This record gives sequence, structure tokens and C-alpha cells, in this order.
Amino acid sequence: MNIITSIGEMQAYSDKMRKEGKTIAFVPTMGNLHDGHISLVRKAKKLGDIVVVSIFVNPTQFGPNEDYKSYPRTFEEDRKKLEKENTDIIFFPDAKEMYDKPKTYVYVEDYSRILCGKSRPTHFRGVTTVVSKLFNIIKPHIAVFGEKDAQQAFIIKKMVKDLNFDIKIETGEIKREPNGLALSSRNAYLTDEEHSKASLIYKSLREAENMIRRGEKNPENIVIFIKNFLNKNKVGKIDYVEIVNDDDFLPTESLTGNIRILVAVYVGKARLIDNIKVSV
Ligand code: PAJ
Repeated sequence: MNIITSIGEMQAYSDKMRKEGKTIAFVPTMGNLHDGHISLVRKAKKLGDIVVVSIFVNPTQFGPNEDYKSYPRTFEEDRKKLEKENTDIIFFPDAKEMYDKPKTYVYVEDYSRILCGKSRPTHFRGVTTVVSKLFNIIKPHIAVFGEKDAQQAFIIKKMVKDLNFDIKIETGEIKREPNGLALSSRNAYLTDEEHSKASLIYKSLREAENMIRRGEKNPENIVIFIKNFLNKNKVGKIDYVEIVNDDDFLPTESLTGNIRILVAVYVGKARLIDNIKVSV
């Protein structure tokens, strides 16, 4: 496994691999790797000859009052985990080289303003900009994203289509703790009590799924049920509970087809997101 920090070196490596006819599969991350990230690395390993994992805590996707400074940075542990997975390359760039007084951004309209975009208005612009940069640096054939960040994966797919990136986007399912809590680097901010409260987020989604399977057709009733469940159990301050059609990410009027229920809740110092896809 090699660690590459320079943009030029990364591009030269990818050019060489492409010339040799190798398929490059890429997993972008911000580090502090857990089993969710690792599951994406394993998926990438199956899909490509060469696996590149980037570790970069991207400043442009954090708002002014968010956790950029305190975001956990654990490079040595991450390196060991990736070594075990037989990762080929860790791309670990420097923020100064990545952002040299930039004036150019990539922005996916409309979809960047809904759901998480409402409370994080500059977040997705930062994500789509850095992912475009990483695509131009790593030149992957395939990139793998997690369904944990379903809106992010949708936006990236839209960007790839709109801008004709010649890259196939794959997704990996959400990895969870035994109690149901979706793995996240931000779970580290939780106290023990908050941690067990946070597991009720998934519980509320599963209960909602059961209601739909039993015949509930009205999205409004599901939203009300989840909000009441979270409030009754004092899980935290709800940012949003919304239901979209999973094919176009637009609000759904009726609970049929592929739908996705998405939730964001502030639990202690953490803002946690989760979602569930239901096909009816
Ligand atoms: P990060 O939060 O480190 O996540 C990296 C990838 O891991 C994302 O595709 C995310 O959806 C996935 N992931 C996170 N938790 C997961 C879980 N429990 N199960 C499965 N996959 C999970 O997302 C980002 O970084 C950044 O926005 C990035 C795309 C790297 C751009 O900076």
C-alpha cells in the first residue's frame, strides 16, 4: 500500500494504471474509518483492479459553526485498517494544495437545498466541489458511496450525469451497530446515554416501515408518527423527518413504489442522520 499526498503524483499514478488497462475503484472518505467505510472498500475491491481511498477532511463542506476543527483525525489507525484490506493507495492530500484561493465551485441546484441542505446551506456545494476535484485527480472508473448519506449519493449521481463524468457510481448499504445505530464518525461525540437514545432513530424508521407494510398510504401520518416517537423518547431536537420518492428524491404524495424516509436529529453535540428505503 502506498500513501500519496501530492496531486501531481496521484494523477501520474492513475495515468499509469489506466495505460496498463487497470480499472480504478475509488472510495472518498474523511477518515476516522469504521466498518461502514470498510464495507465500501471491500465493495470497491470487488469492482476494480486498483482501490484508491482518499482521506481528506474537506473544509468547504463544513459550515462556519460546524465541527471542522474537532472532526476526528485518526490517520495512523485508518492506515492500519486500510492496509489490512489490501488497499492499493491512500490519497491523503494537504488542504493547502487542494484549495489554493479557489474561485470555482460545482453546485447541483435544488437538490443541494432540500433535506440536509436546509440547515447546511453550503454543505453540498463543498461536497460536489471536492468530489469533482478528487475525480479529476484520481481518475477512477468507479466510485463507491454509502447509502448512509443517501442525499449525497443522489446528488453525486446527478452531478456525474449532468457533467458527463465518465465514472460509474456504486452505492453500499448502511452498516449499523447491533442496536441499530448507523455507524458514523460523529457517534464519537455521544455520551453513553445519548448513544442509547440515538439507537431509537433506527427503531422509529423500522416501526414506520412496518406501518407502511401494514397498509399505511399517507406520508404525513408516517412523518407525524416518527416525530412523536422521537419526541416522546426525548432523543433530541429534530432537524427534519421527510419522505421522498427514491428515484427522483422529490416529496412523495403516496406511499407507493420506491420510497425513502430520511431523518436528521441533533443528539447532544452530534447531528445524526439516518434513512431507510422501503419498496411497496
Ligand atoms: P465520510 O463521512 O467519511 O463518508 C465516506 C463514505 O462512507 C460516504 O460515502 C458515506 O456515505 C459512507 N458511510 C458513512 N457511514 C456509513 C455507514 N454506516 N455505512 C455505510 N457507509 C457509510 O461522506 C463523506 O465522508 C464526504 O462527504 C466525502 C464524500 C468524502 C466528500 O468529502
